Parts: sequence; C-alpha cells; structure tokens
Amino acid sequence: MSAIVSTNVHIWNGILICIIYSKKTACLVRGDSADCSHMSLSEIPRDLPGNITHLDMSHNRLTSLPAASLAPYSGLLNLDVGFNSLTKLDQALCQTLLRLRTLNLERNEVHVLKEQDLSSCVHLTMLNMASNRLTLKAKSGDPFAALENLMTLDVSKNMLVSAKLGSKPQLPNLVALTLSHNAISSLKKDDFYFLSRSPSLFILNLSDLPLKKFEDGCFQPIANISFLKMDGCNLGPQTTQLCTELSDTAIHTLSLRDTSLGKLTNITFKGLDKTNLTTLDLSSNKMNAIEKGAFQWLPTLETLHLEDNNLKHLTKDAFVGLQSLKKLNLRRALVKSKTSSTSIIDDFTFSPLVALETLILEHTAIRSITENTFTGLTSLQYFYVGWSSCTSLKYLTKNTFVSLAASPLRVVNLTGTAIAKIDPGAFSAFPNLTTLLLDYNFISQTLTGTEFEGLGQLEQLFFSNNHQMVELSSWSFVQVPRLRILTLGKTLTGSLDLVPSPFGPLTNLKVLDLSNNNIANINAHMLDGLGNLMVLKMQHNNLAREWKSANVGGPVLFLKELGNLTVLNMEYNGLDEIPTDALKGLKKLKEMSFTGNVLNSLKDSVFEDLLSLRVLRFQKNLITAVRPQVFQPAMENLSLLDMGRNPFDCTCESILWFVTWLNTTKANVTGGKDQFTCNTPLAYFNRTIMDFDPLSCKDSTPFQALYIFSSTVVIAVMLGALLVRFHGWRIQFYWNVLINRTLGFSDAKVEEGREFEYDAYVIHADEDQKWVERSLLPLENEKYVFCVEGRDFLPGTSRLEAIVDNMKRSRKILFVVTESLLKDHWCRGFKAHHALHQVMEASRDSVILVFLQDVHDYRLSRSLFLRRGMLRLRCLLYWPVHKERIPAFHEKLRIALGMTNTLKP
Ligand SMILES: *[C@@H]1O[C@H](CO)[C@@H](O)[C@H](O)[C@H]1NC(C)=O
Ligand SMILES: *[C@@H]1O[C@H](CO)[C@@H](O)[C@H](O)[C@H]1NC(C)=O
Ligand SMILES: *[C@@H]1O[C@H](CO)[C@@H](O)[C@H](O)[C@H]1NC(C)=O
Ligand SMILES: *[C@@H]1O[C@H](CO)[C@@H](O)[C@H](O)[C@H]1NC(C)=O
Ligand SMILES: *[C@@H]1O[C@H](CO)[C@@H](O)[C@H](O)[C@H]1NC(C)=O
Ligand SMILES: *[C@@H]1O[C@H](CO)[C@@H](O)[C@H](O)[C@H]1NC(C)=O
Ligand SMILES: *[C@@H]1O[C@H](CO)[C@@H](O)[C@H](O)[C@H]1NC(C)=O
Ligand SMILES: *[C@@H]1O[C@H](CO)[C@@H](O)[C@H](O)[C@H]1NC(C)=O
Repeated sequence: MSAIVSTNVHIWNGILICIIYSKKTACLVRGDSADCSHMSLSEIPRDLPGNITHLDMSHNRLTSLPAASLAPYSGLLNLDVGFNSLTKLDQALCQTLLRLRTLNLERNEVHVLKEQDLSSCVHLTMLNMASNRLTLKAKSGDPFAALENLMTLDVSKNMLVSAKLGSKPQLPNLVALTLSHNAISSLKKDDFYFLSRSPSLFILNLSDLPLKKFEDGCFQPIANISFLKMDGCNLGPQTTQLCTELSDTAIHTLSLRDTSLGKLTNITFKGLDKTNLTTLDLSSNKMNAIEKGAFQWLPTLETLHLEDNNLKHLTKDAFVGLQSLKKLNLRRALVKSKTSSTSIIDDFTFSPLVALETLILEHTAIRSITENTFTGLTSLQYFYVGWSSCTSLKYLTKNTFVSLAASPLRVVNLTGTAIAKIDPGAFSAFPNLTTLLLDYNFISQTLTGTEFEGLGQLEQLFFSNNHQMVELSSWSFVQVPRLRILTLGKTLTGSLDLVPSPFGPLTNLKVLDLSNNNIANINAHMLDGLGNLMVLKMQHNNLAREWKSANVGGPVLFLKELGNLTVLNMEYNGLDEIPTDALKGLKKLKEMSFTGNVLNSLKDSVFEDLLSLRVLRFQKNLITAVRPQVFQPAMENLSLLDMGRNPFDCTCESILWFVTWLNTTKANVTGGKDQFTCNTPLAYFNRTIMDFDPLSCKDSTPFQALYIFSSTVVIAVMLGALLVRFHGWRIQFYWNVLINRTLGFSDAKVEEGREFEYDAYVIHADEDQKWVERSLLPLENEKYVFCVEGRDFLPGTSRLEAIVDNMKRSRKILFVVTESLLKDHWCRGFKAHHALHQVMEASRDSVILVFLQDVHDYRLSRSLFLRRGMLRLRCLLYWPVHKERIPAFHEKLRIALGMTNTLKP
C-alpha cells in the first residue's frame, strides 16, 4: 500500500545524503482512526470508513477546510490538520463535527479568527493554533468565548501584541495557556480579565516575549496560576516588578531561564515571600553575583536550579534564607575568575541549607575543600561532583571529606575528578553510603582494603576507567562485604591470579565488571563463593591461554560455582577453545556472548547445561560448523541469535542442522537469516546458507564409505607428517631434491609459463625490502623473473592500474608475510584488495605465502583475506631461523614457483 514517490538529494559537507520519503498512496486505517498525513492531499478523502473518530490530515496541502467535506465523518473526536495552508476556519465545522474534542491547527496561515468561527465548538478540550498569523485586534470580538470545555489553548508563535484574547470572562475550564513567542510587550491590568472565571488555570507559558512592563495587578485575575514559565524573556531588573506582581498568586514553580538576570540583589525576589514558591529555575542567566540576602524571600523554596551561570565566588551568606531547600543544582554555575583559575566557595557557604538533600556541583573548578566547606549540610544524602576539579580531590585523605561527616550521605559521585590516590580511611566520613562512583579517575595504587574503611553499608562501587593502573590484593574488598555491584572495567593491571581471591568476601555480589583489563592470569578459584553473581563481564581481556587444553595444569574452569549467572560476556578474548566443562552448571544463563574471538570447532556438549539461554552472540569467529551436538541445547529457547561473519562450511555434516533450525525458528536473527554466507565449498562460496539444498543430504550411505576411506587416508597422512616432523627438515630437503631430480622443477606445462612475463609478483612491506633484495632477488640469476613493486613499475602509470596489470602478467603472487605487511595500508586498501581478489579468484594456487615471522591465522585472514587452510601446503613457506636451512628454503621456493596454477579436477 505504500510506494516511494519522491526522493530528495542533499549535499552536506560534501557527503551525499539521499533521503527517500516514503509516501502513502492510501490512508492507513487502523481501528477507528485514519492516518492520511504526508500525502500531498488538497482535500479530505471521501472513501474513509464513516465511523472513524480520529483523523490525521497533517502535512498535506489543504488550503481550506469546508465543513461539507467532513460531513461523512460526523463522529470525529480528534482532528489534526496541522502543517497545511489553511487561512481561515469554516464556522460550520463544529456544527458538522458535533463531538469534536481536539483540534490541531498548528502551522497553518490562519490570520483572522472571528467570533462565529469557533462558536459551535463547545465540546472542544484542546485547541492548538501555534504558528499561525493571528493578530486578534479588539474588533475580532471574543473568538474563544464559546469554548466552555477547553482545557488547553496554544496560541504560541503568532503575531499577538496583547495577552488579551477576549473582552469578557470565558474559558471556565482552561488549565493551560501558552502565549509564548508573540509580540506581547506589556501585561496590562485587565489583560487577563477574560480568564477571571477560570479557577483551574494552572499553567501559564509566557516564554520568549519582549516584555517590558508589568502593570499593577496584571496577575490579579489569574491568581490561581501555580506554574509560570518566562524563559527567554529579557527581564533583567524587571524581575523585581514581576515578583511583586506574583506576590499574591498561588505560584509554585517559576522558570526564569535565560532572562538576563546578571546579578541577584537583596530585592530581586521581593514579594515571593508571600507565596509558597517551591521550585525556581534560574539557569543560563550569565549570573555573576548573588548578593547577601538575595534568597531571604524564598523560605518555602525546595528546588533551586542555578545551572550554567558565571558565578566566581560563593560567599557564606549567599544562601541565607533557604531553610527549606532540598535540592540545589550548581552544575556549571561556577566559573574561574580573572585572578584565579578556580572558583571559590567560602567556608560555611552551605550551612544555611539545613534541609538540603541533594547537592549538584558538577563541571566546576573549585579551589579547595577545607574542613568547613560543606559544614552544616545535616540532611545531605546525594552529593554529585562529577567532572569537577579541585586540588583537594587529587589525594583523598581522612580529612578531605571531614566537613561532610555530619551528613547522612547515601550516594557520592566522584566521577572524573582527577583523583590519583586514596588514603586509608578516606571515606570513613560516610558510614551510611550505599553508592560510590569513582569512574574516570587516575587512581593507580594497590588496593589494600583500608581505602574503603568505614563503608560497611556500601552496595555499589563504580570504579571503571581508571587507566588500568590499579592492582588488587587479596584484601581489597574485605571492608565492603555488602557490595552488590562492582565495576572494574579498564582499571586493573593484567593479573588477577591471587590466593585468596579478592572477590572472596563479596558473597552478595550480583554484578561484576572486569572488562577491558587485558587480564591474562587468573585462577580457578577467582569467583568461588559468588553464588549470587548474575552478571559477569569479561570482554576485552586476554584469557585465551586460560582455556586452552594445553595450559599447564589444564584449562582454568573459573565459572564453575556461578549457578545464578544470567549474563556472561566473553567477547574479544582471543579464545580459540572452550573447555568441555567451562560452562557446566550455568543452568540459569540467559545471555552469552563470545563475539570477536577465534573459535573454530567447539567440543560436543560444551553448551549442554545452557537450556535457559535466550540471547547468543557468536559474531566474528571462525565457526565453520553449527552442529546439533554442540548447539542444540543453547538454541532450544533462543530469542536472539547474533552469529554473522563466520566462515560457514556448507556441507551436510556442518550446516544441515543449522539451516533447518533457521528455517523453522521464531528467534530473532540479528542481520537477518540471509546474512550467513558459505565460505566453503567452492560451489556455495559467498552464497547465503539459506541456499543450501537439504535434499542433497538425503542419501548418506555412500558418504559413510567415503568417511571410512577418508579417515584412513587422514591417519596415514598424519603418520607421514609425524615422521617428517621427527626426522626434521633434512628428510624434507632430500625428498624435495629427489622429486625435483625425477620430475623436474615444474609440474606446470611449458606453455603455461609462456603466457606470463614474470614468474612472480612480489608483495612486501617497505620494511622487508632488504630481505627481498638479499634473499629473493638472487634467484633472478637463475631463470626467474620477478616483478617487484617500486623497481619494475613504469613511471607515469597510476599505481593501482600498474598493480593490477603487473599481477595479471605474473604467474604467481608472492606475499612476504610479516606483521608490517599486515599493518600496511596498501594491503588493507579496499581497491587493492579488490584487484587482488580478482586475480586470486582465477586460481588460489597462484598465491605463495612466505612467512618471515609467525603470524596468527586470524590476523592473516583479517588483513589478506587468506587463511593457510585455503592454500596448498607447498605454497606456504617459512623463512628458517637457522642459516644452514636456507638452501632448503630456496629449494622449496623453486618448487612453489614451478607449480601449476590450473586447478586439478
Ligand atoms: C466501522 O465500520 C466498519 C464497516 O464500515 C466496521 O467493519 C468496523 O468494525 C467499524 N468500527 C467500529 C470501531 O465500529
Ligand atoms: C539590601 O541591602 C542594602 C545595603 O546593601 C540595605 O541597606 C538594605 O536594607 C537591604 N534590603 C533588604 C530588604 O535586605
Ligand atoms: C501556603 O501554604 C500554606 C500551608 O500549606 C497555606 O496555609 C497558605 O495559604 C499558602 N499560601 C499561599 C499564598 O498559597
Ligand atoms: C555520576 O556523575 C557522572 C558525571 O557527572 C554522571 O554522568 C553519572 O550519570 C552520575 N551517576 C550517578 C549514578 O549519579
Ligand atoms: C546512618 O543510618 C542510621 C540508620 O539508618 C542512622 O541511625 C544514623 O544516624 C546514620 N548515620 C549518619 C552518620 O547519618
Ligand atoms: C542462587 O540464588 C539463590 C537466591 O539468592 C540462592 O538461594 C542460591 O543458593 C543461589 N545458587 C547458587 C548456586 O549459589
Ligand atoms: C523478536 O524481537 C521482537 C522485538 O524486539 C520481540 O517482540 C519478540 O518477542 C522477539 N522474538 C522472540 C522469539 O523473542
Ligand atoms: C525451508 O522451508 C521451506 C518451506 O517450509 C522449504 O521449502 C525449504 O526446503 C526449507 N529449507 C531448508 C533448508 O530446510
């Protein structure tokens, strides 16, 4: 039902952005509502169900709204005609739509509104006329007078010059009136007379008005308002006048953001003392001073926002009078002064704030914390200092927070405050603390346990992003046995092989984050006793060795006691093995991620106990086979599978079960089922595994015979390989020589050689130039001709062209593989890779890899898109460590260069 009708092309910063608007060709009707928005309509459609109650006609091209066109839908309750080009209202509209409750006329061009236009709209509760062109001169009469049930009226962004929307009392049920963004420059005594019988008027929005004058008694008719917003009005010293006018209203909340209040004097808020004001927002006022007594008028104030101001100095009488204040927000309120790089808070500044529960001092530079800076905050529970700097916070000592000792603090947030060291007992002033945040600091010390002295009630300790300089000891957490959440991501130095384990005392722990620490050493008892642990994050460590079967003492099974674990993250750990028993007993595990490892074949029954698993992430591994023996238990109840970017082997053995599972599962598959592609065999290369034909597996008896045959062959080959391994390189050497002598250097036909100009195209990193010159080029004295980048390129040809060209003229492509090569941008360059791929596709056997260093297969496939397994053994050469083996190497090279490229059937 939907078609792409128009496309828009934008050019932004040289980047081409193509936005396609999908436009409906028919209204969407769902239940009793019809959505006809964004359809370029110039009239109301006639073919909608007659019983709809909600009609959305917004974002169309209506220029008029004849009542007759709405006659078929007389039951409408809600009509949205916003974002059209209406210039007036049809007075018969509400006579036709007798039940209309809400009418949205936002963003049209209505400029006159006559008394009759809305005279029948008695049931209307919401009218939005924002962004039209209303002026409402006196002669317009009382256009809103009939709206007896109206509760919200929005006439913001028009051209009104007066707040007077009527001459006689009306709108008896109005709750909220929005007059912002008009041309109203003064509030006259009788402007709000028309609202004098509107006892429920509660919210008045007068933001962004060029107000200059408040006449005496201007708020008198609407003394019931409790929420007044005047953001963006350029009030300045007029604020005093405003507050005087508000003195006998029921005002509760006053928002004066961005009103150019440069300075608070002792009369700015005069008059508000007669009200019950509880919330005052003075953010973004460029305020630079608070005079003594400025807040004496606000004894009932509970919340004060002073965010984003320019205060340089808070004196000790600044907050006098705020005895009811519960929350003070000074985020970015303080700035450094000309004479000092920090702002100053006098001693005892906060002592009038006896009821204060929350103090926000984020993003501020404070000179220092003395023993009396926070004295008197006897109710403070939440203290936020994130991203502030203060010389006293660099080394936390027993005295740093002594001024808070009388505060019943529960949460202290010291995120990003440049803490470098914590002394014993530094937090002992906080016996009731439950949450301590120390993320993003520079703490670098061994945690001996004394640092957390006195924090016996602590339940959450956030200690991430401390630059991996923190070392744990067996006693690090003995003082905080009630911890439920402990985060140590990107904080620890790499070893956690401690006995007893630092986590031993934390029997209540539910969440443990050890991610991003490069941890390489742990022991099997690290998490013993943490039976309550539910979330374990171990991603981005280096635990591959711990789970290798070849590990001295066997694989380290550190998850064995975590019967309540529900989330396990082992992403990016270089894992190539999961021990059979590593995940035993994790019967409650719901979410497991192994993304970004190098896991290939998994042992049968490793996932045996994971019957509760709902989310499984295995992206970016080297999984070739998804067999039921391994995956069935884990996939039984899955709701989300993320397994893309693995080199699947599309054979009956490896993939049949998975394809069948995918075909029937209800689980969500990240990226879609078609994203899984076959890597092998050649016939399926790069095709989605959903193309795999299950019928081809029907008759498997001949395969069994083949299986027996091939396993015999494999065993024979293995024996041979062992023989070769133990008798060393010498045997290989003589074997090679023997072969060459009997069969000649080349198994390639003579004609094959003639098609090519070069025997090999040599790719190497700049750093390996010397090796090429010394060890490879001497072969040119025999009969070989190499194409070496840099040496053999014709000047003037473009680099890429030349590469492709020369590759085509070379019979082999020889990579000199070192770490430098894999890092080389050329190699990773997309175009180069593309070219290379084309040539290689012609025949994989044209590739020779010469390893000067041992390089992980994973890195190889990442950079060159090649894996050792893809090439013939003879095309993989290793540069020997011992000089005496170099002739043997050269011999092998000659054989590799001589091999045919034509695939044997
Ligand atoms: C509206 O009328 C249609 C038939 O025109 C009917 O199928 C539908 O159930 C009615 N919807 C309501 C909410 O009455
Ligand atoms: C305001 O301060 C001035 C002097 O700074 C003082 O004379 C005056 O009495 C104060 N007014 C009030 C209401 O506190
Ligand atoms: C302020 O609150 C008190 C107690 O709740 C009440 O008695 C008083 O009338 C209120 N004052 C105003 C101006 O609303
Ligand atoms: C702690 O402070 C930081 C920085 O201001 C903030 O991002 C974070 O949300 C705060 N956390 C809590 C729990 O208050
Ligand atoms: C800690 O909490 C207990 C009980 O909740 C209370 O009695 C005690 O006064 C509090 N301590 C501080 C320093 O606030
Ligand atoms: C899991 O948690 C429950 C309740 O917290 C607890 O009783 C049980 O002992 C825990 N299981 C294990 C294996 O520790
Ligand atoms: C798939 O995802 C959707 C949306 O997130 C969710 O509602 C649905 O339950 C999921 N399917 C399963 C089988 O969990
Ligand atoms: C998937 O299901 C469809 C229809 O149920 C069937 O035709 C197709 O062969 C199935 N494919 C696999 C791989 O099971």
